[in-house]
Amino acid sequence: MKELIPLHHAAEEYFEKSFQLLNHQWPRLRSVRMGMLHSSRDSLPTSLVLVDEDKVIGHIKIKHLACRHRALWIESVVIDKALRGKGFGKILMLETEKYAREMGFQIAYLSTYDQQGFYSRLGYQECEKVCVFDKPVDNWLPDTSFLKNKIWNVK
Ligand code: ACO
Repeated sequence: MKELIPLHHAAEEYFEKSFQLLNHQWPRLRSVRMGMLHSSRDSLPTSLVLVDEDKVIGHIKIKHLACRHRALWIESVVIDKALRGKGFGKILMLETEKYAREMGFQIAYLSTYDQQGFYSRLGYQECEKVCVFDKPVDNWLPDTSFLKNKIWNVK
C-alpha cells in the first residue's frame, strides 16, 4: 500500500533512501542533500515521501511562500525512474495537496522547466511571478522556468 509520510517521522533508513532517489535525478553533495532532508519538520519546510512497504518511491518538498498569504511552495518532486508513468506522481501530488489543505493552505505555486504537461493534468495553470527566495538578487525565478499555481477551495 502506498502511503505519504513526513520524512522526519520516518525511520533513519528512509533518509538514505530519499537521498538516493533525489540524487539519482539531481546530483548534489551528500552533506548538502542530507542537510536539506534533515531540515524537514512539521512547521515546514517538510519533505514528504511516498512509500511502498519499505521503499521510498517518491519525494516532494513543501514550504511557506513568504510573500503570499496561505500560499505553499512545492519543489523537488520526483518519482523513482523505474516507476514513472504508473500514476504515482499523481498520487504524490494529490496526497500532498490534501496534506497542505488540512494545514490551511489555499494556493500552491511551483516552477517547472519541462513538466508542464504533468502539472497541467493536475489542474496547475501558468501564473504571475512570485517572490520565492529571501535574497533580493534571487527574488525572481529565471525566465526559462514556467511558474504555475493551483487554487484550492478552502473556506
Ligand atoms: N507531459 C504530459 N503529461 C504527463 C507527463 C508529461 N511530461 N508526465 C505525466 N503526465 C500525465 C500522465 O499521462 C498522467 O495522465 P492521466 O492522469 O491522464 O493518466 C498524469 O500526468 C499523471 O502521471 P503519473 O504517471 O502519475 O506521473 P509520474 O509518476 O511519471 O510522475 C514526474 C511525474 C514526477 C514528473 C516524474 O516523471 C519524474 O519524477 N520526473 C523527473 C523529475 C522531475 O522532472 N520532476 C519535476 C520537477 S518540477 C518540481 O519539482 C516543482
